[in-house]
Amino acid sequence: MSYHANTLDRAITIRALKNYKAQQQRFACISLYDAQTAAIAQQQGIETLLVGDSLGMTVQGHTSTLPVTMEHMVYHTQAVARGNTLSFIIADMPFMSYSTPEQAMHNATLLMQAGAHMVKIEGGSWLVETVQMLTQRGIPVCTHLGLTPQSVNKLGGFFVQGKDHDSADTILEEAKALDAAGSDLVVLECVPEALATRITEAVEMPTIGIGAGRYTDSQVLVANDLIGLTEKPPKFSKNFLAETGSISSAFKAFGEQVRAGEFPSEEHCF
Ligand code: KIV
Repeated sequence: MSYHANTLDRAITIRALKNYKAQQQRFACISLYDAQTAAIAQQQGIETLLVGDSLGMTVQGHTSTLPVTMEHMVYHTQAVARGNTLSFIIADMPFMSYSTPEQAMHNATLLMQAGAHMVKIEGGSWLVETVQMLTQRGIPVCTHLGLTPQSVNKLGGFFVQGKDHDSADTILEEAKALDAAGSDLVVLECVPEALATRITEAVEMPTIGIGAGRYTDSQVLVANDLIGLTEKPPKFSKNFLAETGSISSAFKAFGEQVRAGEFPSEEHCF
């Protein structure tokens, strides 16, 4: 297996992420919630961090992300930003914190003031106006399509999305609409590899996959899955600590394998 190292010698910006896509260079993202792991991610050259509302499950012990509040997200975003000055930090907007464009504007401001460089919101075409409102006022936005965990009760569980022709076409059209509205990045969660590939080719914004196959512009994993803390890890994740022996080397191997196109492999795809 060939590893290539990455060191961050300057702060990663949205321009750098867009250049990676233009140059067909993959980049890595880790979802984490505290200053110490954020510092390790910086040392190991991880380009982007997500302060994910998955902390509702990993840190708080809930069965979904719904109980996570703005106060929680501000607290964890501040912690991550204290530990890492070079990676690009995306902060999740929690459940019902962006149900109108005005509410999104207010809450996104709080996350940017807490140290985020971008906010992430889950959903499709209904978010077009919100994306326009935030991006036109200087707040970069990452959208999130496919399995959107805040809608778990509407979806009826945590399932792969876009498996049939019609639902795949709908997700593709939503990605195009959000791209045209100014979305800067998009997370594609639990969709078939073929759909994620179509989206990645169709949109200007870089795509970040999780359970979305091998051909997105970036890959994200939750730190707790990556270092083997999760009792029943999802099919798309991999315990990098088991093969490397430390958190630092697990983060490093994840980044290197993403950049080399070695992770994910076929076994992690839908
Ligand atoms: O909350 C989170 O960690 C996420 C990732 C799984 C993409 O949204």
